[in-house]
Amino acid sequence: MNLFEKQASEFIPRHIGPGASDTKEMLKTIGLNSLEELISDTVPAAIRMQRPLNLPEAISENEYLKLIKEMSLKNKVYKNYIGQGYYDTITPSVILRNVFENPGWYTQYTPYQAEISQGRLESLLNFQTMVSDLTALPIANASLLDEATAAAEAMAMIFHHVNKTDRVERPKFFVDNEIFPQTKDVLVTRATPIAVELVYGNYATALIDTSYCGAIVQYPNDKGSIEDYRGFVNKVHDAGGHVVMATDLLALTLLTPPGELGADVAVGSAQRFGVPLGFGGPHAAFFAAKDEFKRNLPGRIIGVSIDAQGNRALRMALQTREQHIKREKATSNICTAQALLANMAAMYAVFHGPLGLKSIAERIAILTQTVAEAIEERGFELVSDNYFDTITVRVDNIKAIREKAERQQINLRYINNNLIGISIDETVTVDDLYDLINCFENDVDPVAFDIEEDDEPRHIPLNLARTSSYLTHPVFNIYRSESQVMRYIKQLENKDLSLNTSMISLGSCTMKLNAASEMIPLSWSHWAKMHPFAPVDQTAGYQQMIKELSDYLCEITAFDACSLQPNSGAQGEYAGLLTIKAYHESRGDHHRNVMLIPISAHGTNPASAVMAGMKVVVVKALENGYIDVEDLKAKAAQHADNLSGIMITYPSTYGVYEETVKEITAIIHEQGGQVYMDGANMNAQVGLTAPGLIGADVCHLNLHKTFAIPHGGGGPGMGPICCAKHLAPFLPGHVNEQTSNAVSAAPYGSASILLISYGYIRMLGATGVKAATEYAILNANYMRARLEKHFDILYTNHNGECAHEFIVDLRPFKKSAEVEAEDVAKRLMDYGFHAPTMSFPVAGTIMIEPTESEDKAELDRFCDALIRIREEIKTIEDGTADKRDNALKNAPHTQAVVCANEWNHAYTRQEAAFPLYYVTQNKFWPSVARINNTHGDRNLICTCEPVSSYAEAEA
Ligand SMILES: Cc1ncc(COP(=O)(O)O)c(C=O)c1O
Repeated sequence: MNLFEKQASEFIPRHIGPGASDTKEMLKTIGLNSLEELISDTVPAAIRMQRPLNLPEAISENEYLKLIKEMSLKNKVYKNYIGQGYYDTITPSVILRNVFENPGWYTQYTPYQAEISQGRLESLLNFQTMVSDLTALPIANASLLDEATAAAEAMAMIFHHVNKTDRVERPKFFVDNEIFPQTKDVLVTRATPIAVELVYGNYATALIDTSYCGAIVQYPNDKGSIEDYRGFVNKVHDAGGHVVMATDLLALTLLTPPGELGADVAVGSAQRFGVPLGFGGPHAAFFAAKDEFKRNLPGRIIGVSIDAQGNRALRMALQTREQHIKREKATSNICTAQALLANMAAMYAVFHGPLGLKSIAERIAILTQTVAEAIEERGFELVSDNYFDTITVRVDNIKAIREKAERQQINLRYINNNLIGISIDETVTVDDLYDLINCFENDVDPVAFDIEEDDEPRHIPLNLARTSSYLTHPVFNIYRSESQVMRYIKQLENKDLSLNTSMISLGSCTMKLNAASEMIPLSWSHWAKMHPFAPVDQTAGYQQMIKELSDYLCEITAFDACSLQPNSGAQGEYAGLLTIKAYHESRGDHHRNVMLIPISAHGTNPASAVMAGMKVVVVKALENGYIDVEDLKAKAAQHADNLSGIMITYPSTYGVYEETVKEITAIIHEQGGQVYMDGANMNAQVGLTAPGLIGADVCHLNLHKTFAIPHGGGGPGMGPICCAKHLAPFLPGHVNEQTSNAVSAAPYGSASILLISYGYIRMLGATGVKAATEYAILNANYMRARLEKHFDILYTNHNGECAHEFIVDLRPFKKSAEVEAEDVAKRLMDYGFHAPTMSFPVAGTIMIEPTESEDKAELDRFCDALIRIREEIKTIEDGTADKRDNALKNAPHTQAVVCANEWNHAYTRQEAAFPLYYVTQNKFWPSVARINNTHGDRNLICTCEPVSSYAEAEA
């Protein structure tokens, strides 16, 4: 390697934990001589990729930042007035630096281990409170993927809520003409497979009868008009249906909220609360509803409960509603959502408070009316006189206006040949108004207008002006100075265990390094300030990155085409299944609707299949964790006439490369089915094998696992799908391109975070991405080799090896010591570690996936912790420790418990809190003790409690 090649590959050892001498020692522990030997032992020869990946070679971090900066400058940042659900916003610097750009917030996982997640749980509770207050509906979730998806989720929820049995009596769902086009588009995609009949019309004249389950309207509507929906809501209610309002949180600071108008559900995007446009995302959508829907709400809900000491503690509520429990009866497949962006939006509300938000909204409304009146003075007519931030202007000569706008680097919304939309956001200045009005000017008279000091919004109808208060909770009212906000953010961050504390070995989740150089460009304005519907000639930088990334992903998967639209893994599954469905239908096979799904599959698989209108047939597993090929054969033959396909995960969710995989895919193809591969475990494939090589037809990739997008505490994510040539014509389209089947609001989903995966591939290059896979396998097998002397390891291959993850069986300890998997998970917190994945795919086990990014020392600390916990279990088994009062049952131990004057346990405080030496050097304190889940579900509280409850706590 010459000097420059060496420099170019400098990122590889930054991303991969073990160095050369560690590698040697680890291989020795496993009992092998080389990495190649390990890989040949684990990955079946029949599916090995026989060629190097055709990807560019690695470039250095510095070189990458230069390249991506240059590429960004190919994007033209115009002043955007396009609106349509996306508005430029000012991210408060304190939030940008301390949340958006802070690994303490963006590297967290979904808060399944609530005791070490209290910070983001509190912030997500703030988000729910903010949404609930502004919409005036009592229950809100902690985010969905985007506004269009949220609308589709609302439609599906209402449809299933009203039609409780399989006999659908109320199939119709009314869609007002004036909702955003991209929302309509996703509604169509989602309605068709589950046989919801969409009926379009004007809400004011619609006839709603008992064949309707519900309706959706937009408030303010697509053209910016503020309509009074009270009469319509009554009409739908009288017919026994429910109303969804797609709405705007900022507008609701000035408008009568949906709940007070009688709406049953409110959905929308929280993007304009400080979250950059990013060419479409990631942004947090919100979903709020009346109490009667609380058990049907899609997505995650944060709730208040108590811990073992009786102290207030937060956790995800009503887990039994989640899709993984419902499986084939699921009505939603939402798993990863948009937690980080929900946290940013909540912090924006904390930062500005109710008065600050209102004053932003008023400023926007006043600027909008200033523009509107100036344009009217110039002889133009508006579609509506009632508006907040958006006006729609009737024009004869759109071309002339467009030319003038583009000369001034202004984007307006060109709705059709006679309508132009203008949406004002919080970044618009008085100077901007001159340029904007100038587009409608005759070039003779200079633009002039007045904004009086005491101007007020005059175009919000009096009977729709907000009179109720909102955001009255102290959290939205006490943090005004930057010091206060910064400390509040830090205080929450300190309660959460993130990758900047220790490894998070969650099997199936791939919590690898999210490198700083991959993250930095996201804040740059030429990536961050791009509107998703900006004209194509302004987005050359994005187009280049998207094209190159698509090509790389096709090469990695050995497929021919790629869609970067799905914005989560589950969304990818859904999109992939629709692609299969459309393919069958194109061949006249409308009846092919049976999807075979192995028993071990992730819950999103059957949920996505049901949403795609398919019938799920479960395939059994053998003792060794492999798919039962005989059962599969029988079921494929039994359903041959109607077989749509199979969904497999590879390596399987049990962490093994099944040698039988090609046989499995061949059986499905023989029966006319297609093979969908869940790409959650792609981290064990890149460069060694590929979905195309195992016989799959389409797969999704969790870019937030294998390709370095951080999990953000439960999102964002991206779930692009790649497929073989014959499926390419059926990939998701977008209304902007006059194509159908869209699954997301924006053409490229959460486009800005694609940069992270792009950076990952460019800085690792062909050699590095393959090495990452090899080291992911090495790290897992090293841990397996150390731990198998102390625990039973489930489902290794015939050489006794695992893939990139492995399952530790904790079930025997229930009998021997009354210790459950949960006790081990909570005890790990005392050792400074996040628990591995618990009870998936096998109840009573933990699944460990260390990833390639962890070094040997960190792996050893984790193994030491588990081995010591095994010794602690032994002391219970042999009667030295009490079965009830022991360090496992009482875990986790908080600082308050350990430092209290009273200590009545048989084990010492030191054993409780500092059980190994390394813990004394880097102690992470769980902020609450073991959480009582049932208490929280029985006494459901999903918003910040009233101030009085704090007063009682203090008293
Ligand atoms: C095997 C598997 N499939 C699908 C998913 C769903 O992906 P997402 O959470 O991005 O929707 C997961 C998520 O953890 C998974 O582990």
